[in-house]
Amino acid sequence: RNHLSLQSNVSISSPLHPPKQPFVIGVAGGTASGKTTVCNMIISQLRDQGVLLINQDSFYHSLSDEQLEKVQEYNFDHPGAFNTELLLSCMERLKNGHEVTIPNYDFKTHKSTLVGQKVNPSDVIILEGILILHDPRVRELMNMKIFVETDSDLRLARRIKRDTVERGRNIQNVLDQYARFVKPSFEEFILPSKKYADIIIPRGGDNAVAIDLIVQHIHTKLGQHDLCKIYPNVFVISSTFQI
Ligand code: ADP
Ligand code: C5P
Repeated sequence: RNHLSLQSNVSISSPLHPPKQPFVIGVAGGTASGKTTVCNMIISQLRDQGVLLINQDSFYHSLSDEQLEKVQEYNFDHPGAFNTELLLSCMERLKNGHEVTIPNYDFKTHKSTLVGQKVNPSDVIILEGILILHDPRVRELMNMKIFVETDSDLRLARRIKRDTVERGRNIQNVLDQYARFVKPSFEEFILPSKKYADIIIPRGGDNAVAIDLIVQHIHTKLGQHDLCKIYPNVFVISSTFQI
């Protein structure tokens, strides 16, 4: 699955040309709720727009050899499993108009590969991940916060299928990990972060109406942003312009 989708869009950064601030969208939700599917639907509808999709999974800490020996005891659904400092510094650089390197994470080896992926700043940045609404410093970067809500039984069924086919796991491991870490952490950390969402999408990617409304809102916000830069005295009311 694609962790990063981008269109090159290099910003000029100088005191005379401060970099345009990106419109940042956060997309959270439980495992296999359809976060990636929702993001891809938003990106395909924003086809004229440079969009950078950054997955929180890219910022998983690599496991040490010692941790790898006891991988069944590692909680990948705990906020401490992610290198949030690195995510924050990448976002800071992008907001200042600089290129960054996003790590490539491998779910089979539980490690980041040595070579990351270089990405450029973009008008729209989507941050996606199970715990992307957990840390207040990350939430502060966001202009729009979304929580994808899908029934737990459906998510577990999808996860068994995905992890056995794509992530090299067997059914027994998936079920053990789910009962021991995934479900308890969902209840302790992920579900409580729903209260920070501006929009909750029931049924994930099946909810075309919600995706349409979100895309319309992004278009409106980006339109206002551009118009205010050209005509600083233009007065913007809701989605209509009054000149
Ligand atoms: P997440 O990013 O939240 O883990 P994904 O979008 O990757 O979720 O979806 C997880 C799995 O479920 C994938 O294999 C995907 O193809 C499948 N899936 C997602 N949404 C739907 C849907 N609406 N109907 C059927 N399968 C879906
Ligand atoms: O794509 P999704 O949002 O489901 O990815 C997050 C999930 O990946 C977490 O629930 C976590 O249990 C799982 N994970 C894993 N092995 C890793 C890293 C994450 O099973 N090495």
